[in-house]
Amino acid sequence: MLYQLAKPLIFALEAERAHGLTIAGLKALPLGPAPKSDPVLATHVAGLDFVNPIGMAPGFDKNGEVPDALIRMGFGFAEVGTLTPLPQPGNPRPRIFRLVEDKAVINRLGFNNQGQEKAIPRLKRMRGRMGKGVLGINIGANKDSDDRIADYVTGAQNMAPLADYLTVNISSPNTPGLRALQDKGALAELLAAVMDALGKSGTPVFLKVAPDLEPADIDDIVAVATDRKIAALIISNTTITRPSLRSANQSETGGLSGAPLKELALQRLKDFRKASGGTIPLIGVGGIANAEDAYERICAGASLVQLYTAMIYEGPTIAAAMNCRLAKLLKADGFSSVSEAVGSSADK
Ligand code: FNR
Repeated sequence: MLYQLAKPLIFALEAERAHGLTIAGLKALPLGPAPKSDPVLATHVAGLDFVNPIGMAPGFDKNGEVPDALIRMGFGFAEVGTLTPLPQPGNPRPRIFRLVEDKAVINRLGFNNQGQEKAIPRLKRMRGRMGKGVLGINIGANKDSDDRIADYVTGAQNMAPLADYLTVNISSPNTPGLRALQDKGALAELLAAVMDALGKSGTPVFLKVAPDLEPADIDDIVAVATDRKIAALIISNTTITRPSLRSANQSETGGLSGAPLKELALQRLKDFRKASGGTIPLIGVGGIANAEDAYERICAGASLVQLYTAMIYEGPTIAAAMNCRLAKLLKADGFSSVSEAVGSSADK
């Protein structure tokens, strides 16, 4: 309610400025303890315990400033980043656009971030404040890097000691050429280098892919990820396609997120479930805005879900509200845990 009242004021601000103020607010506000999650929501994925399956997607907290606040807002896990080895400014502003009529966002930020060195001491402090919340760290390559694979190796070495899991993000549409790392040969080389660098450290590595993939790409990604012992696939990042949209900002260049991404991201999740036969955990993200969306993604094969854009439209209580309703949906269908529901509607 409060957020719906404040929304016109927040939306009157340029989107990136509103975001900056939100982060500053979360840093300053004394938030209470994390709400208790219903035990039916507890789940175990990639060797990690989650009190609930709803996570904050990366991009909201690029520099790892507020993962503790996100846990206190009811998220079971917070993925920070994308962090690149060196700081970089990203693309010229404006570069985030609200598509209000579509409940969507287009962004072409281009991995703006303060760099890993600056984030390390901050995340060391955060670790102690996360309670049972899981901390994911999403790593990427610098735009001007001569050797992008080396950037991921550096990122893995820098961030693994602080992360419950690492995400190798090769799916941003805003760093030219980055998505080419999804091609079979390049992906195999990249993941081998990252896994070698981590050695026996045991930090699980997740891989985040784009929704804009052909069926053959999906088979290749599943094969390489399985071969390289990737712990989970995150499906998906923003899309460069434009389903039918109403808002004036629809022709801005960049990645589209929010409600218009929902069907595509769900379809890709189903495609990955089919290609993998449930052998590798999947994380569903893209257009999830309520418990029904999360439940649908879980039944289609997602072990966990993430969201970002819906919080812009629905406000900071979204995770807590979704968890309450998701627990009811699971129980109503006779499930005693999230993991029992995972993939229950797949292959039907
Ligand atoms: C993102 N996203 C993103 N993903 C990522 O892996 N690294 C990043 O740095 C960012 N940055 C980013 C900025 C902004 C403004 C948005 C809206 C999104 C993508 C995000 O994590 C997610 O995959 C998509 O937004 C789809 O989920 P939603 O937003 O539809 O719930």
